[in-house]
Formats: sequence, structure tokens, C-alpha cells
Amino acid sequence: MQSVAQQIAALKKEKNAVILAHNYTLPEVQDLADFVGDSLGLSREAAATDADIIVFCGVSFMGETAKILSPGKKVLLPEPEAKCAMAAMCSAEQIRQVKARYPDATVVGYVNTSAETKTEVDYCCTSANALNVVNAVPNDRIIFVPDYNLGKYVREKSGKDVILWSGFCPVHQGVTVRQMQELKNAHPDAEVVAHPECRLDVLNMADFVGSTEAILKHCAASDRNEFIVLTEMGMGHRLGKACPGKKFYFTQQSLCMTMKMISPESVLDCLVNETGEIVLDGDVQERAYVPVKRMTDILG
Ligand code: 13P
Ligand code: SF4
Repeated sequence: MQSVAQQIAALKKEKNAVILAHNYTLPEVQDLADFVGDSLGLSREAAATDADIIVFCGVSFMGETAKILSPGKKVLLPEPEAKCAMAAMCSAEQIRQVKARYPDATVVGYVNTSAETKTEVDYCCTSANALNVVNAVPNDRIIFVPDYNLGKYVREKSGKDVILWSGFCPVHQGVTVRQMQELKNAHPDAEVVAHPECRLDVLNMADFVGSTEAILKHCAASDRNEFIVLTEMGMGHRLGKACPGKKFYFTQQSLCMTMKMISPESVLDCLVNETGEIVLDGDVQERAYVPVKRMTDILG
């Protein structure tokens, strides 16, 4: 009897499939993926792959973004009900209402939004390039959705008139200055690295702020040996592999439960039965592509 990992490897070959996984997924899921990374890296891989099937191990907006960039490919979600709480905090209709109030503003939408919400966005961004995108937009007045904290951070860094939304990530919103201080007291030599979905008071006290992949690169390149990592705990697996001998400390409650829904077994089921396929309405596909393409053009 073949192991789950062996069955997955055989099916991947037979069906010309690729497995992409976000940095927050379970270690055993990351270990069977062809590529593990942040939202931006995963979007790039999805756009570049010549596989026929993309099995996307992440929350649903990530798979949708892969489909927007690769409409000709079959994109499968092992757990279609694994959703991002922040993405649910901003609908297309809500953006239409705010646009009516600020008709001269440009809408920059964090990638953590549904495909339908992206149809009302002018430019898309991820945590890795939010500041670059906001700086590149030829307008000083920006409506930034849905993450209040990331919006506030880019407002401070860009100096633009950024109108904020009230969305947040429950995982990062829960990180407090007090928790950070307690970790600093326990590990006085540790550098503090934080994801920009944390609140601004936390970010202002961090030594480094970046996307999950930027955090990884920073810790790997740093000559420090200990890090307080203010993002989701799944990062511990990649950090441990990339930085042998270094130590990483997380706040206890930093868990994204929907990312943890995905298991090797659900990946196998999805590959066998080709379930969880993302199907986007043609109009949504076409309109959501515009802001995502603008983001990739700014980077390219
Ligand atoms: P990254 O793009 O930095 O990996 O972030 C995605 C995310 O959902 C963070 O909570
Ligand atoms: Fe969404 Fe937060 Fe989970 Fe990231 S960690 S996927 S923002 S709920």
C-alpha cells in the first residue's frame, strides 16, 4: 500500500498537476507542495506554471487569484470552505457605495478579497508590494480595502490621502504591544519581525515589517539568532527549515484555523476526484483580471 505522499506524487505526474501551498498551511502539507510561499509568490507561480491542474493549498481568495491569472487551468481547492475572515469584510456592493462618496479616489484592494470584490478594485496589491503599488498609483487619494492596519501603514509610509476600511485579520489584530513586550522581556536578544496586518502600534515597535516571504528572507539573511515573529505560527516550519540553529518565538494565539483545514488527505481526495474546482463567472474573471494585472505590471 502506497503512502498518501506517494499516491499524491503519482497522481501529480499522471495528471500534470502542481501543488502550491501558503506559508501558513500545516507542515505536512507544505512538505508535499511543489512551491510554498506568500500570496505574491504563489500568484507568480500560478501565472507561470505549465501544469494543467493547480491544487491550491490556501484560503479561497488565493485559489481565486490563481484562477484569475491562469483562466485556462483547472484550479482545485482541497478545502473549498477554508476562507479568509478578512476577505469576508468587504463586498463589491460596499465598495460601490464608498466610491460614490469619493468619486475622485482610486481603489487599491488587498489581494485578501474575493474575485467578485476585485471587480470593483482599480489596483490589487499584496502585503509584499502594498507600498509600491500605492506609490505607483497616479492619484494621491486612495481608498484602501479591506485591511485597516495595512492601509494605515501605507498611509504613514506613502504620505498619501488613504481612506481606510474597517476590515482586519483576527490573527494579526489579536497581537498586542503587551504580548510583544512580554516576549521581548523573555528574549532580550531577539529581533522583532512583524507582518503588516498587525496594528500600527505593534508595527512601529518592530525591527522589520514584511510579507511572510520577506520575513523569511530577512531572518535567513540576518546575523541574529533569535526572532520574535509576529505573524501566524505556520511560518515556524519554513523558518526552521531555512534557518537551522536559529530560534523563533510566536504569540500563543496566532493561528489561522482555516489554513489548518487542509491536510495531505484532503489534497489526495481533491487530486483523485478533481473536486473543489474554482469556476468564475466570465464577467467576474475579466473584470477582476484588470487590477491583478496592473499589480503585476507595476512589479514587472
Ligand atoms: P502574505 O502574502 O504575506 O503571505 O500574507 C497572506 C496572509 O493572509 C497574511 O495573513
Ligand atoms: Fe486571512 Fe488572517 Fe488567515 Fe491571513 S491569517 S488568511 S488574513 S484570516
